Amino acid sequence: MYKIAVAGTGYVGLVAGVCFAEVGHQVTCVDIDEKKVNKMKSGVSPIYEHRLEELMQKNYAARRIEYTTDYKSAYEDADAIFIGVGTPEQTDGSANLSYIATVARQIAESIKKDCLVVVKSTVPVGTNDKVEQFINDFLIHDVKVEVASNPEFLAQGSAVIDTLYAERIIIGTESKWAEEILMKIYHPFKLPIVSVNRRSAEMIKYASNDFLALKISYMNDIANLCELVGADIQDVAKGMSFDDRIGSKFLNAGIGFGGSCFPKDTKALDYIARQNGYELKTVKAAINVNKEQKTMLVKKARKRLITFNGLKVAVLGLTFKPGTDDLREAASLENIPLLLEQGADIYAYDPAGAGNFAKIHPEGKNGKGSITYVSNIKHALEGANVCFIFTEWGEVKAVTPETYEKLMRTPLVFDGRNIYGVEEMSRAGVEYHSIGRKA
Ligand code: UGA
Repeated sequence: MYKIAVAGTGYVGLVAGVCFAEVGHQVTCVDIDEKKVNKMKSGVSPIYEHRLEELMQKNYAARRIEYTTDYKSAYEDADAIFIGVGTPEQTDGSANLSYIATVARQIAESIKKDCLVVVKSTVPVGTNDKVEQFINDFLIHDVKVEVASNPEFLAQGSAVIDTLYAERIIIGTESKWAEEILMKIYHPFKLPIVSVNRRSAEMIKYASNDFLALKISYMNDIANLCELVGADIQDVAKGMSFDDRIGSKFLNAGIGFGGSCFPKDTKALDYIARQNGYELKTVKAAINVNKEQKTMLVKKARKRLITFNGLKVAVLGLTFKPGTDDLREAASLENIPLLLEQGADIYAYDPAGAGNFAKIHPEGKNGKGSITYVSNIKHALEGANVCFIFTEWGEVKAVTPETYEKLMRTPLVFDGRNIYGVEEMSRAGVEYHSIGRKA
């Protein structure tokens, strides 16, 4: 078993660290935030993720994982250091690599034995060549250090399962030595490993994420056409899904993709292409379709209602998808300001993301409208003039069509996630508008 250090305890770093400990490695997770480190030591996860806390507590008790701000002692005798810090988007669409550079410098100044540095963060193709050069330039002790690429494919909400039972592990190395270390680290997971060179590994990450983003934008594009020609996108998706070459996943039309990955990674690959004098037309199209898709539902509702001024508007779901408290690039962030601008009195429900949303839009009067956070869906729906569904939480799916009819002043529902059948809503007396299906 290996002695592993992990830099950064966000989604990528923390989940990787916990899963390495779970399969028996000795792990130290490093973060600059002392409060966060103390929280993790007491068994509390800084992120909302199924099974994460349980595995944190179990492996901490078994002394297989520890948390520290003291990077020097964590790095100095590690066999491998995994970097999982953020690479946020900059205004021009490029990835901000300053966190990676900071960690690389700390590694160079700390390590006292030969060490493999493994970059899990999503980075532009060619970055890891530079990280390796950078570390070697700043090395203090006479040791061997190489950099490998090991992109992460976990999705929020299912991060632990995605890691322990991944469909594939991609390792990108430039030497047998590095390849062997990574093969051995991942051996206990008993998963398929694809070993390629470093640049191909970096590209596999972008190409995979952008392909999924393209798939979603394509379905959204087709959904909009379905509405115009009288077809039903869910039936269309079902019919397509029987073809193995297309597959059955990621065919759900809706109000666009959000989160910390697809929006950022589509823009980053578009930027990389432009930097290389190439225009990536398909990815550009995915970005543009997504931009328009996000506000489509509220625009549709605006046409139907003329104004939101003084209306009680129920909003079900704020996060970019269920199973997370993450709001990054969520459709709600674009649509709520539009509704507030037009004087809506919003009653918002989200089982995990309401607290984060209230930091951006505090409860009470907000511009011409107002926002109130409720912990019970019924309170949002009672007497409402219109209801928007932005996230397909299980709690929202559990609301029966009859409930809208019974509780709302006017049972008018705009569903951005196609939760309900058109017929069942109509039978219950609800005026129902969704994506890519007839009203
Ligand atoms: C995504 C990828 O799925 C992961 O494989 C990848 O590792 C991760 O990015 C990353 O790069 O870190 P994530 O952003 O957590 O994971 O969430 P997804 O489940 O992929 O959903 C992204 C967005 O697409 C959500 O807003 C979701 O509602 C939307 N979506 C997804 C659709 O609109 N339709 C679909 O059919 C599927």
